[in-house]
Amino acid sequence: MRIPLFDLNWDEEEERAVLEVLRSGWVSMGPKTEEYEDALSSLYGVRYALATSSGTAALLLAYLSLDLKGYEVILPSLTFVATANALVFAGAKPVFADVLSLEVPLISAETVEGRITPKTKAVVFVSYAGYGDTLEGLRELCRDRGLLLIEDASHAHGAEYPGGMAGTFGVVGAFSTFANKNLSTGEGGYLITDAPHIYRRARLLRSHGMTSSSWERLKGKEEMYDVVDVGLNLRPSEIQAAIGLANLKKLRRENERRRKLVSLYRRLLAEALPDVLIPFPPDSPSSHYIFPVLLPKGVDRGEVRRRMLEMGVYTSVHYPPVHRFAIYRDGTRLPKTEEYSERVLTLPLWGNMGEERVARVVEVLKRAVSTSSRG
Ligand SMILES: Cc1ncc(COP(=O)(O)O)c(C=O)c1O
Repeated sequence: MRIPLFDLNWDEEEERAVLEVLRSGWVSMGPKTEEYEDALSSLYGVRYALATSSGTAALLLAYLSLDLKGYEVILPSLTFVATANALVFAGAKPVFADVLSLEVPLISAETVEGRITPKTKAVVFVSYAGYGDTLEGLRELCRDRGLLLIEDASHAHGAEYPGGMAGTFGVVGAFSTFANKNLSTGEGGYLITDAPHIYRRARLLRSHGMTSSSWERLKGKEEMYDVVDVGLNLRPSEIQAAIGLANLKKLRRENERRRKLVSLYRRLLAEALPDVLIPFPPDSPSSHYIFPVLLPKGVDRGEVRRRMLEMGVYTSVHYPPVHRFAIYRDGTRLPKTEEYSERVLTLPLWGNMGEERVARVVEVLKRAVSTSSRG
């Protein structure tokens, strides 16, 4: 049995949605995108949603709309490098904070506070693996210290935490809908906000600072456009928006299925491999984007991955720490992030995975670990 890391839940509904767009003759940003944005703003209960060409584009627009140029912005190192790269493009200096612990691998009020300087303007929270356990504390810290809270909620589509939905805790939330995400459009992203000035700026910069779109001009809403800011082309296509609309209908079920599979993983792993650490309390709300576990100290992760692959099971590492990449290396040490990154192993997870595959992954992991100890 070959078990990939993830699989898409696309079917005839996404196919139909794409065909409808192709046959309509209008494939660049237009009415489907507006419908998708309306569906997203109702899901999150926010005033505005803005669809983009990628999650990186959503982050860049969120950052640009907040004028972070010349300021320091605190973020985790345990993230995909896009969270940091987009900050640099927006002219800000990324300052990496450590995660709270191996059990709660998120930045928190405790780990962020010591990184604040007079130049700090914002904090970017990443809902790693779909969790938001430290978000409320971080929101309070940001409020007390006059800092903007931004969420990179790429892992947390539709996640509901006690204090609100992922993406709604700060001034703006950015999401990626890349192929492997719980909500997927292949490539794509969106941002959500209640602030009219952020929405207006992000919307302008999404399309070269132009005051109207091709669709609006075609519909006779505007005759000519002006250019009032220096923007880029970060627009989604109607094809992406149509897939997003179809896929959004499955999100709640997708997240629920993943939740059940993660409970099963937890139970089977506790029995078979009690030395493997499973981050986050079992009842913490999450969208369960990925299922990372920490291998016991002394186990050779590379060897475990090779053995698992031989037995047909794909794994990954979320993430190599960003502060250790050549471009960001400046001597910063983040001991908990570093230990986490050295020991973490991401096991396969997707909504349609099925209980049998979960059991097989645990069995394969057990075999691989038993022959991969450094001793
Ligand atoms: C936490 C995080 N931020 C940002 C991104 C970037 O999104 P995209 O690949 O859609 O540009 C991703 C996705 O891969 C991500 O996981």
